[in-house]
Order: sequence, then structure tokens, then C-alpha cells
Amino acid sequence: MKHLAILGAGGHGRVVAESAAATGWRISFFDDARTGRVDGHLVAGSASDLKGAATGYDGILVAIGTNRTRLNWIKCLRSSGATIVTVIDPSSKVSASAVVGAGTYLASGSMVGTGARLGEGCIVNTAATVDHDCDLADGVHLSPGVHLSGNVTIGEASWLGTGCSVRNDIVIGRDVVAGVGSAIVSDVANDQTVVGVPARPMGRL
Ligand SMILES: CC(C)(COP(=O)(O)OP(=O)(O)OC[C@H]1O[C@@H](n2cnc3c(N)ncnc32)[C@H](O)[C@@H]1OP(=O)(O)O)[C@@H](O)C(=O)NCCC(=O)NCCS
Repeated sequence: MKHLAILGAGGHGRVVAESAAATGWRISFFDDARTGRVDGHLVAGSASDLKGAATGYDGILVAIGTNRTRLNWIKCLRSSGATIVTVIDPSSKVSASAVVGAGTYLASGSMVGTGARLGEGCIVNTAATVDHDCDLADGVHLSPGVHLSGNVTIGEASWLGTGCSVRNDIVIGRDVVAGVGSAIVSDVANDQTVVGVPARPMGRL
């Protein structure tokens, strides 16, 4: 049985582990704050322990919610020889023409549509949907129930909160945060936090 190391044994890591186990991986966690076993899986050491042991696993998935931190760990572990893998929950539906980057996690009930491109280290969380021809850069996190219409572009490390909806053909910059329930109907510049229906920069609420 192939052996997967998951960095991060918190809530997100446990969700990833459930999907990975369902697709045939044996799992060990690495975590700086936890020891013993989590959901029956061994916590084999800390993050720096994983750096030293990276080549001993068939695959590694970084399950850290903070987008920039996740990307940094992917880079660091890869430089230590790690094989960074995708984990796709068996209930996720992914188009044959979609491209999904290494280190990306597709959660239960998610959908990635025709011609969509997802970078490395993305999270498409529970029941989130990415429609045709969307383009997500590295480290994008779509929280549970986010819906992207067709041809949406999202820059590196942006985070869309639970239940956001995005109109087709919209361009969202890098390091954007969109609050829960936002409806994004116009382009969003880099580094903005937007909320509301329609979504507006938080400072202008
Ligand atoms: C947008 C967000 C990041 C702002 O967090 P914050 O900086 O801590 O802001 P606060 O909670 O202090 O709220 C500041 C103001 O914005 C309002 N606000 C916050 N989030 C809002 C939202 N999503 N929609 C509308 N208004 C919102 C608050 O009501 C508050 O208004 P007030 O000053 O009139 O009381 C956060 O509310 C959010 O939506 N996070 C996403 C969470 C999520 O999706 N998690 C999924 C994990 S998988």
C-alpha cells in the first residue's frame, strides 16, 4: 500500500486523510502541535522531521489552511526530494480535460469542469464548483460551497470564503480574501478583502 505523509493534522488535514484513505493510501501525519494518533493515523513527527524524511514517502500533501504557508512548505519539501501529490476525494467530479496541479486537494462533492486549470497547492473544498475554463493560480483556496461560473481567473494564494459565488469572466487578483457569502460580480484587485452582495472592498462597507 502506498504511504502518504500529510503535513498538518488539524481539521483540514483530517478531512484530507479521509479522502486519501478512501483512495487507497496508508497515512502518517506530521504536525508541530500534535503527537500520538489522530483518527487512528500515527503522528510520525513535526514539520521539520518530515523535511528530513521526505523521500521515505510515496507522496506528500501539505494540509495547511494558510495559503502562502502551504505554498512555502510545498516548495521546501520538494527541495528535500518530496513527491508532492494531489488528493482527489472519490466523490469529486473532475473533467478529463481539466488540469490539476501537484499538491492540490479536491474535497468531497467538488466539481472541476471542462478545460479548467488549477495550479499547485490549491484547495477546492467541500461541494465547491469550478466551471469550464476557469484558471486558478497556485495556492488558491475555494472554501465549502463556493461556485465559480465559467472562465473565472483567480491569482495566487487568494481565498474565497464559504458560499461565495462568482460571475463568469471575472478576474480576481492575488492574495484576495472574499468573505463568506460574497457575490463577486466585478473584477477584484490584488490584496483586497471584499464582502457582501454585491462584493465591495471591506473598507468601503
Ligand atoms: C471577511 C472576513 C475575512 C473578515 O474577517 P475580520 O477581518 O475578522 O472581520 P470582522 O469579523 O471583524 O468584521 C468586520 C466587519 O465586516 C463585517 N463582515 C465580516 N464578514 C462579512 C461578510 N462575509 N459579509 C458581510 N459583512 C461582513 C462584519 O459584520 C463587521 O461589520 P461591523 O464593523 O459593521 O460590525 C471574514 O468575516 C470571513 O468571511 N472569512 C471567511 C471564513 C470562511 O469562509 N471560512 C471557511 C474555512 S474553510
